[in-house]
Amino acid sequence: MLALVVTVPGSEVEVASDMLWALGVMAVEERAVDVDRSETDDGLVELWTTMGDDPHQVARAAEGFPSRWRWHTIEVDESVAGEWRRHAVPSWITPDLVVVPAWVEEPDQPGITVVRIEPGSTFGLGDHPTTVLTLRAVSGVLWPDATVLDIGCGSGVLAIGAALLGASYVEAIDVAAAAVPTTEANAELNGVAAKIAVSNRPLAEVEGTFDVVCANILAPVLIDLADHLRRVTSPSGVLVLSGVLEGAHDHVLDALAPMQVVDRLHREGWAALVLRH
Ligand SMILES: C[S@@+](CC[C@H](N)C(=O)[O-])C[C@H]1O[C@@H](n2cnc3c(N)ncnc32)[C@H](O)[C@@H]1O
Repeated sequence: MLALVVTVPGSEVEVASDMLWALGVMAVEERAVDVDRSETDDGLVELWTTMGDDPHQVARAAEGFPSRWRWHTIEVDESVAGEWRRHAVPSWITPDLVVVPAWVEEPDQPGITVVRIEPGSTFGLGDHPTTVLTLRAVSGVLWPDATVLDIGCGSGVLAIGAALLGASYVEAIDVAAAAVPTTEANAELNGVAAKIAVSNRPLAEVEGTFDVVCANILAPVLIDLADHLRRVTSPSGVLVLSGVLEGAHDHVLDALAPMQVVDRLHREGWAALVLRH
């Protein structure tokens, strides 16, 4: 398995971790670097993560890092990289909606919707604050038989949650190759494969409009996609965005004008925004 190691000054650990999370990683481990402190006044920290095994995809993601950060990839033993799986627990999205790691036993309970997810090498175990916020917001605005577009589906957690909650049809897209088979397998696992179409189709090529559009992606990507996000949200529809930081997302809203924010949800410094035309 390919690990990505990003070396940053200690003062930039938080911003670097946020950037990695928003790029779609599932876990980030911090390791202090034992180097001559004269190199930097606040110590260097290595952030270890994985972004799948395609070195070109990793290199493309790393193009967005500031040039002062150093990064390299390294082959690691999969059993060590998979240690986090032993600690994975269900994530409650609302009192009646829970995302459960596929290998964790969670008995069915009446009235509780359970989304079972095997993320593989994709993002979306359901525990990241932005996933929780997006799925919570989607569950709040969804109506029976609504159509849904999930942009940046990762493991498919949002698409599958929407399908289980009553959406009639869900289109799920992602630029990452691994997201397609992973979302398809998770849709099958949850018995909603017939309702979900998954592909690597770019948003620019998605035709028509959807009742609910969700995108949990880094702010610069949301800004790049803004014209299409407006286009694919039906006139009476709802756009749910996350992957943006609480108190630092006005530039995203500016790009989406004249759509208006009708709700904001916050958790651990992250925000989800609910917009309408
Ligand atoms: C933070 S993850 C979100 C995964 C999942 N939807 C969730 O909420 O847990 C962001 C996902 O967006 C994908 N992505 C990034 N840029 C994209 C783009 N321009 N179009 C579609 N997907 C994109 C990444 O590959 C990644 O899977």
